Amino acid sequence: MNKDTIMHDAPRSIVSEAIRTLRTNLSYKMSQTGDKIFLITSSASGEGKSCIASNLAISFTQSNSKVLLMDCDLRKGRQNQIFSVNSNVGLIDAIDNKKICPDSVYNDEEIENFIQPTYIPNLFTIASGNIANNPSELLENKKFDAILQSLKNKFDIIIIDAPPINIITDSMILCNKVDGVIIVCAAGITKRESLVETKKKILNVGGKIVGVVLNRMPSDKIKDYSKNYTKYCDDKIVKVYRSSFKNMP
Ligand SMILES: Nc1ncnc2c1ncn2[C@@H]1O[C@H](COP(=O)(O)OP(=O)(O)OP(=O)(O)O)[C@@H](O)[C@H]1O
Ligand SMILES: [Mg+2]
Repeated sequence: MNKDTIMHDAPRSIVSEAIRTLRTNLSYKMSQTGDKIFLITSSASGEGKSCIASNLAISFTQSNSKVLLMDCDLRKGRQNQIFSVNSNVGLIDAIDNKKICPDSVYNDEEIENFIQPTYIPNLFTIASGNIANNPSELLENKKFDAILQSLKNKFDIIIIDAPPINIITDSMILCNKVDGVIIVCAAGITKRESLVETKKKILNVGGKIVGVVLNRMPSDKIKDYSKNYTKYCDDKIVKVYRSSFKNMP
């Protein structure tokens, strides 16, 4: 079973149930606020951002949403591998494409060339694309804003997979372009100070934190956490924290 697509491979697993809880919380928020674009980030590398992003995207298709999973990790994006789509057509190419209109004007149809269907019905992806020398500058480009606006009209929800915020500036650039930010942290790995730093960085650039996912939860620790968390699951995968920072450092 592939952990990155567990929501599809084992939809009845406890892990999938935890992802579903995250989806339910987000859906509620979306219905109240009209929010549509969510960024998944974390403090450091390997905490599970891409895995949570892919599974969350799959889970929204299961509630009949048309979903776009956008790989904004322009340095080491791997959503193209997870869903076996073409890695040579992606966001970098869309922003850098000389044929595409200059500045903020963006032809709605052009972006269609970069959206790829996946084997999951109703799940589409924009891969990160060819290697860029200047990923941060690409995300700051007005074309990116125009692309995002155009995509907003084509999908029910857009989930953005992003790089770690304490290492690379790209996620900070993205924070205020999205409707909400979800932080992934890894149980027993993410340091408290890193999480505090992450929270500060997001808030400093006007990002709205809508949830925290505690990933890589060891099964023997589950009981300790069960009082504070809404849902937990077996072996080491996902634990979902209700969407506020109330109890966070
Ligand atoms: N809870 C988990 N249990 C076991 N393996 C996991 C879990 N979460 C993620 N993984 C695996 O760990 C690896 C790293 O996860 P992932 O790529 O999602 O991290 P990331 O935060 O996106 O890393 P990066 O910052 O490098 O992009 C992947 O192989 C993924 O399948
Ligand atoms: Mg990743």
